Amino acid sequence: MQNNIFSGLFVGQNLVTIKQVDSTNSFLKNLLSNSKPVPEGTVIMAEEQYAGRGQQQNTWHSEPGKNLTFSLLLKPHFLSVGDQFDLNRAASLGVYDALHPILGDQLKIKWPNDIYYGDRKLGGMLIENTIQGTQLKDSVIGIGLNINQENFPSGASNATSVKQILQKDYDLTLLLSEICKYIEVYYLKLKAGQIDFVRNAYLSRLYWLNEVKNFESNDGVFNGTVKNVLPNGLLVIEDTNGRQLEFNLKELKFLNK
Ligand code: BTN
Repeated sequence: MQNNIFSGLFVGQNLVTIKQVDSTNSFLKNLLSNSKPVPEGTVIMAEEQYAGRGQQQNTWHSEPGKNLTFSLLLKPHFLSVGDQFDLNRAASLGVYDALHPILGDQLKIKWPNDIYYGDRKLGGMLIENTIQGTQLKDSVIGIGLNINQENFPSGASNATSVKQILQKDYDLTLLLSEICKYIEVYYLKLKAGQIDFVRNAYLSRLYWLNEVKNFESNDGVFNGTVKNVLPNGLLVIEDTNGRQLEFNLKELKFLNK
């Protein structure tokens, strides 16, 4: 038997490593539209992305060869469109559980799916779903994590990496295999109908949960507390008057100062 550190059933079993690509999400989406069927669990990992994409039309910069930049394919036909945020939860939890043994309790998930250490961003996700009728068809889960990069451009002042935290290099393939293993665990829980387990686990790991903090919405700056995430992914913040306010990603900023 071949020595394979990818211990799950399907996530990561078909691993394609590419030296240079515009964006692993774009590459995988192209593969889906152009060619023969792509197996569920396929992972496209790039050593270098020259046009990495982030949330809200941002770009994602990552020093070649130092970090994890990959996309994985799921086929969550069992999920309805209204429950698609459960994929963000499963992917965030998978990354969290892979990193927690290394980094400990300062690790948090910042809603909707950023990975934070203290007040700094270790990584993020860009999840692109296709829909068929009322159900999800394909989900391309793109994950970028700063692992062995030591310096960041001044524009990314909030970024950190595993190397900056631990002062040592971490094996990228080993970490990728752990992430795949845990994403599969949470994904299979969703598939088995254990939605509440996944939703509760996600909520309990949230950055700023139950803390009074500063936010900015379209109505201005306010104090509030992260209380919940609705099934559809909206964030619930309770303001100081006890009102429960609901936000989507475009409507809210977390203010650190
Ligand atoms: C964000 O925090 O804004 C999301 C960043 C997502 C980056 C990853 S890197 C692999 C995949 N390919 C992309 O072009 N983007 C995602």
